[in-house]
Amino acid sequence: MTENEIRLPRVMLWKNPLEFPKIVKNPAPYFKNLLDENGGAAEVMMTNRYALMTDRADLIRHVLQKNHKNYIKTSIVRDILSKQTGMGLLTSDGDYWLKQRRAIQPGFHRKRLQGISEVMIDEIQSYMEDKFDQLAASEEVVDLYKEMLYLAFRVVSKSLFGEHVNENELEVIDETVSNGQQIVVDEIRKPFIKPWLYLSGAYAKNKRLRGKSDELILDIIRDRQKSKAKHNDLLDMLLETEYEDGTKMTEQQLLNEALILYVAGHETSAVAMSWIWYMLGQHPDVEEKLYQNVMDVLGTDRNPSFEGLRELGYPLQVIEETMRLYPPAWIVDREPLEDDNYNGIPIKKGRDVICLIYGVHRNPKYWENPEVFNPERFTPENKKKQEPYSYIPFGGGPRLCIGNNFALMEMQFALSMMIRRYKIEIIKDQEVDINPLITLRPRYGLKAIIRKR
Ligand code: HEM
Repeated sequence: MTENEIRLPRVMLWKNPLEFPKIVKNPAPYFKNLLDENGGAAEVMMTNRYALMTDRADLIRHVLQKNHKNYIKTSIVRDILSKQTGMGLLTSDGDYWLKQRRAIQPGFHRKRLQGISEVMIDEIQSYMEDKFDQLAASEEVVDLYKEMLYLAFRVVSKSLFGEHVNENELEVIDETVSNGQQIVVDEIRKPFIKPWLYLSGAYAKNKRLRGKSDELILDIIRDRQKSKAKHNDLLDMLLETEYEDGTKMTEQQLLNEALILYVAGHETSAVAMSWIWYMLGQHPDVEEKLYQNVMDVLGTDRNPSFEGLRELGYPLQVIEETMRLYPPAWIVDREPLEDDNYNGIPIKKGRDVICLIYGVHRNPKYWENPEVFNPERFTPENKKKQEPYSYIPFGGGPRLCIGNNFALMEMQFALSMMIRRYKIEIIKDQEVDINPLITLRPRYGLKAIIRKR
């Protein structure tokens, strides 16, 4: 350590055996408090080594944006997640990542999203008619989180493959993606469980499912390659993608990227939608304002549209404020390639940096009354006053979420179409808590009764 280096406080999580199980169960608020008490940065002993954890916007900006070349994804992504998805946009680094990002980025540009917007609206509409209307008629208590998960899954599927995928195929892909995510969570949370995963046949099941779903997706890709028809979907975009040297993606690359879009793009949106309904349930004034805004702009019959989103406004504020308090991706982590230093804070090679999005979004340095839900924070004027990197639900720098506009559009459509058709009653006195796994899921789901307005 040199003279000018700041010595960061060091924390060992298991020092306090009484607290430890609580921390493991719900680390997000614990880490937030820890950083509040330690000036926003601390070295925290994770399983067997220290990591630098921070909820300081300037330090996060340094890592994700200003000196991003010195940082790669951590071993969790390289060794665990990539086993499920293969190498692709989310899981690679360096030259390969840049090549894929440059190739795929145009698929998420405004014009493409405009095409996909119609597929999305159709899917949300048919989901409401096929499923939500029936749930409303039954007045049963449902788990909204599960419903939002299925809705988001269908939206991603149809945005990827259009009408090319049927219900049975959807089920196979859904089961495979969920199973893969469970394995990832188990391997991260309980590294000692691996032998059991072998013995119990969990890995074999995972492999079997993957084989089935890979075949199915490859069939769709091959069919599409043979046909000359144009579809307004992400698969067309992936198929048309050309690298700078004029070559195209191989079948394996197409498969990996398709799986990555599934994994990255459905649970995140579903988690956000669940917390939005929860927040509306807690804040009837906001719910009423939202309903009025949608009725004033769209009335009862007109569906939202890509071009019309600007007119709406308030749904986006509600979505953004919810993702401040409940960021679906609650941490972003990186590994430094070389020793680095930010204003005296040493960032050592071999020690992961954990950017606590949950913490920076609730940091009183950047937010007045941070625990209070207030969509007014996200009016266009107020957004301009926000400190850079104090609001990063989609990450930041060159690895900013490629699906951010896709997700915001999807959520605005779903929220405005559903709020005018249904009154969702969140069951009172149920236990609601966060479960910070890969995403910030509601731990016990979210029980609600759906009623038609
Ligand atoms: C509310 C919804 C979403 C949230 C909160 C979210 C959040 C994030 C975050 C924080 C990252 C950066 C991870 C990092 O820097 O390590 C990311 C990356 C990514 N997201 Fe999203 N995401 C959402 C929806 C989507 C959707 C809908 C898609 C695709 C259809 C998508 C595809 C991706 C991909 C491919 C990456 C990797 C980009 C790269 O490294 O170049 N995401 N997302």
